[in-house]
Amino acid sequence: MNLKQWLQKLNVKKIHYISGLILSVFIAFHLVNQLLSLLGPSVHIEWMNQFRKVYRQPVFEFILLLAVFFQVITGIKLLFNKNKKTGVEKVQLYSGLYLSVFLIVHVGAVMFGRQIQLDTNFYFAAAGMNLSPAIFVFIPYYFLAVTAITLHVASLHYLKTKSKMVSYGIAIIGIIAAALIILGYTNSFEWREMPVEYQHFIKMFFG
Ligand code: HEM
Repeated sequence: MNLKQWLQKLNVKKIHYISGLILSVFIAFHLVNQLLSLLGPSVHIEWMNQFRKVYRQPVFEFILLLAVFFQVITGIKLLFNKNKKTGVEKVQLYSGLYLSVFLIVHVGAVMFGRQIQLDTNFYFAAAGMNLSPAIFVFIPYYFLAVTAITLHVASLHYLKTKSKMVSYGIAIIGIIAAALIILGYTNSFEWREMPVEYQHFIKMFFG
C-alpha cells in the first residue's frame, strides 16, 4: 500500500480533530508559558521546568509527537478535499498550511537542539528573536505561528457556529497574544543578552 492509499483509508477528519484536541491542551499551556516571557527569562524558565515535568514524561511526549505527526499528515490531506472554498475556509486552509510547516520546522529544531546538548529553554527561542540578522526571520516566524493558530481556531469556530463576534474575538485575542510574546522575548525591542552557547547556535545558521 502506498502513502496515497494509506491516507485514503484513514478517517482523516476524525484523526485531525482528535490530534488537534490533544495538541490544543499542550498549546494552551505552551502559549501561556511564552507569554510569561513578559516577566523575564527566569520566570519563563521556572514555569517551563514545571510544565516539562508533565510533557517530557516519555509517554506524554510520545502522544504529543504522535499528535503533531497526525495533525500535519491529515491536515495536508484535508487541504485537497474541496475545490471551491469560501473566504473563511481559505483562512482555515492557509493558517493550517503555515502551521504544518511551522510545526515540522519548530519541533525539528527543538529535537536538533536537544541532540546537540543545548537546553531548549527560553534562550533557545530568544536567540533567534534577539540576534541580528536572525531577528528578521524569527520574529515574523513566531508572530505568524501564534496568529495562525488563533486564525485556525477562529475560522473553525465560525464554520461550526456561524458566530462572527466570538470568532473575531478569538482572532483578536490571538493577534494581541502574538504581539505580547514578541515584546516579552525581545524586551520590547530593547533586546536581551544571550548566553554564548545560544549565540553559537544561531551563528551555525546565520554566520
Ligand atoms: C512564539 C511562539 C512559540 C515559542 C517562542 C515556542 C518555543 C518553544 C520552545 C522553547 C520549545 C522547547 C520546549 C522544551 O524544551 O521543553 C518548544 C517546543 C514545542 N513547541 Fe513551541 N513555541 C511557540 C509556539 C508554538 C506553537 C504555536 C506550537 C504549535 C502549533 C508549538 C508547538 C511545540 C511543540 C509540539 C514542542 C515540542 C515539545 C517537546 O516535546 O519538547 N509551539 N516551543
